[in-house]
Amino acid sequence: MTAHTLAVLKGDGVGPEVIESALSILGACVPVKVREARVGGAAIDATGDPLPPETLDICKTSDAVLLGAVGGPKWATGPRPEDGLLRLRRGLGLFANVRVARDMGLPTPLRETLVRQADIVVVRELAGGVYFGEPRGISPTAAFNTWRQTADEVRRIAHVAFGLARRRRNRVTSVDKANVLETSRLWRAVVTEVAREYPGVELEHRYVDAASFELLQAPRRFDVVVTENLFGDILSDELAAVSGSIGVLPSASFGDGPSLYEPVHGSAPDIAGRGLANPVGAILSVALLLEYSLGRPDLAHAVNVAVATTLRERRTPDVGGTATTAEITSAVLSNLAWARWAAPDAEESGLSYGWGV
Ligand code: NAD
Ligand code: IPM
Ligand code: MN
Repeated sequence: MTAHTLAVLKGDGVGPEVIESALSILGACVPVKVREARVGGAAIDATGDPLPPETLDICKTSDAVLLGAVGGPKWATGPRPEDGLLRLRRGLGLFANVRVARDMGLPTPLRETLVRQADIVVVRELAGGVYFGEPRGISPTAAFNTWRQTADEVRRIAHVAFGLARRRRNRVTSVDKANVLETSRLWRAVVTEVAREYPGVELEHRYVDAASFELLQAPRRFDVVVTENLFGDILSDELAAVSGSIGVLPSASFGDGPSLYEPVHGSAPDIAGRGLANPVGAILSVALLLEYSLGRPDLAHAVNVAVATTLRERRTPDVGGTATTAEITSAVLSNLAWARWAAPDAEESGLSYGWGV
């Protein structure tokens, strides 16, 4: 079997810890040729640039990209590590960021009956909005950003959301701030227009302020949530309350070239280097990678089963346990051996994410 090439960008803080863990799971599934490259603070320290040209080259010429996290207090002035990640997303043409938050049987700050069987996918527009609008600037007395959204950007992300809903529970909630922002008025108009092409899918609109409450009040009524870049960033972290920890949420970003897989969480400087990081978000990102970039939904499913089995027995401190990153990793590895031949059907087990390649 020819090995797939994988660009691995471990980044900063807990990034290297969770990516080491995720790579050992991936290595147990398929042969991969790892091409490591620097991003974020690690790249600033080595080269002065959070996204050196060779890193982008390596990513562009690999089958997929696996990234840990960037940032930390060390790089509060000067070039920003986060800028490396934003330029990478842009450079790879990634426009759809899919983030999964579901009931995983873990303790949550929400009432258990509200959360049970909740399963929400946030489809976040990743290439536009206030993150990238020009002009932007800052002086000691004033600062400004430009919130720009084109109809084409909205149309392509809306198609991702409706296509996904059709393979899930046929419901799309579009989140905007159309009572205030022009960008949101365009957003709402284009999403409504795209919905006509998906007659079997129910569309509802929500303002972001109301949605942020309703997502926690009644998470089970949501299926696919489609929203713009900044709102998607915020709401996907909020939904960590459904799963139990930001440390267990995976994500995948799709565009025209290689896709990028990364846990939703950041570099967690407060726990970095202590073996406490939850590797589950990174491991489940590897499951997404297996399914969508390496064409191995069977192995993706086995990884999901191995993680679910592990979490019934052992947990890191963020989800109420005492296990270390390394202990969770070895438990997932040993459960994986079993899951690869004994796993029940993906749909039946409720572990299928429900979107196709
Ligand atoms: P964070 O996600 O790093 O941490 C928030 C909280 O969650 C912290 O208490 C942390 O300990 C905990 N946490 C995060 N990941 C965890 C894990 N795997 N296991 C257990 N606990 C975990 O967010 P922050 O503190 O706001 O940001 C820290 C840095 O990370 C900042 O520089 C920020 O810009 C950056 N960041 C990067 C990414 C990314 O690379 N994709 C995402 C978010 C934040
Ligand atoms: C994320 C992060 C990034 C974002 C930052 C680090 C640029 O918060 O991936 O969620 O805002 O997209
Ligand atoms: Mn974020």
